[in-house]
Amino acid sequence: MKKIKIADGIHMLTMNVEDILFEGIWELANGVTLNSYVVKGDKTAIIDGVIGWDGVPETLYKNLEEIDVNPQDIDYLIVNHMEPDHSGWIESFEKITKDFEIICTDKAAKLVTSFYGNDERIRVVKEGDTLDLGQGKLLSFHPTPNVHWPDTMLTYEASTKTLFSCDMYGAFGRMVDHHFDDELTPEEVEFFEYEGIRYFSNVMTTFIPSLRKAIEKTKELDVKTIAPGHGPVYRSNPQKIIADYYRFTQYAQGAGKREVTILWGSMYGMTKKAVDYIKDILDKQGVKVNILQMPQESHSEMIATVFKSAAVIIAAPTYEYRLFPPIATAMEEIGRKKISGKTAFRFGSYGWSGGAENELKGILERNKMNWEFIESVEFQGSPKAEDLQKIEEGVLDTIKRMEGKIVE
Ligand code: FEO
Repeated sequence: MKKIKIADGIHMLTMNVEDILFEGIWELANGVTLNSYVVKGDKTAIIDGVIGWDGVPETLYKNLEEIDVNPQDIDYLIVNHMEPDHSGWIESFEKITKDFEIICTDKAAKLVTSFYGNDERIRVVKEGDTLDLGQGKLLSFHPTPNVHWPDTMLTYEASTKTLFSCDMYGAFGRMVDHHFDDELTPEEVEFFEYEGIRYFSNVMTTFIPSLRKAIEKTKELDVKTIAPGHGPVYRSNPQKIIADYYRFTQYAQGAGKREVTILWGSMYGMTKKAVDYIKDILDKQGVKVNILQMPQESHSEMIATVFKSAAVIIAAPTYEYRLFPPIATAMEEIGRKKISGKTAFRFGSYGWSGGAENELKGILERNKMNWEFIESVEFQGSPKAEDLQKIEEGVLDTIKRMEGKIVE
């Protein structure tokens, strides 16, 4: 765990976590950081505490002592969000002291009780409530429900204009030497943009209206630094991550980068022949192509890649009178994430009868996805020259139609 000063009286404690499934689902190809913040005035508050992923709190306590904070002297635990990556240490913290208050929203208070059984030292806060720590450090609280749980809030420190945003403005991706936006190399900026997209699309995107409200609430505050619970601290240009998050909300509703994702699966290579054929066509059009073979690809990567693309080509055969199951599963997951409005085109092989198309339509309707599909092309067995011709026309039409949806 590293200790990094982000302003007078404010430190970040940060650690990288690897080799876990985030939320028990999402593969972390490049890890994730967990960030806590300690704000010291006459009183001391810790915001969104973290511990080692093994649940042992000693690491955190040792690090607090190294920044001259005796864990027993912590007066307030500010709980912006109760998901256990930020709150899992409360139970063990109580073993060393009981002389503290938990500050959280009413929804979080119920979760504190149900998760950790503590209902004696909770102070529920509402929009605009403040907490004066002394020595000029003044915290205010701003509930932002459903980012991405109903309990969530932002905490703002007025003297340094620092916003502690927890999951909001977060990103996957480990931090090595650089922790502030102005320290990042161009490669790291690109890395965290993609890891931000991966995080947003895996964890947050189901809640677009709430995320937009949180963006509006951020704009109402005079923010100089954004200090999230995951990923870099934005002290030089916080407007960039605010704009990025707004752009990501657009990706959830049909916009995307000038990229086409081919989401494909093939049983014995018939559908694959058509996939190979269209790669060249897309290359000649100068469009970036992302190729995701299912079920080989992780769902974390699949969701992120589809999410950021302006168009999606689904290449999948009929299997047992229905859609090839790995593609059906992927599309259901995309639907659950409410990724809507993408420009799309499907083709695929069948043996003795179709059926894939019906199941795909059912998934789209059931999840209210409103994807804009060009007419599908199905072919029996291996694709013939006339099938490839129709597929080529579909691909070119897809590229044409996605142009109006590109947001970089
Ligand atoms: Fe980082 Fe929703 O927890």
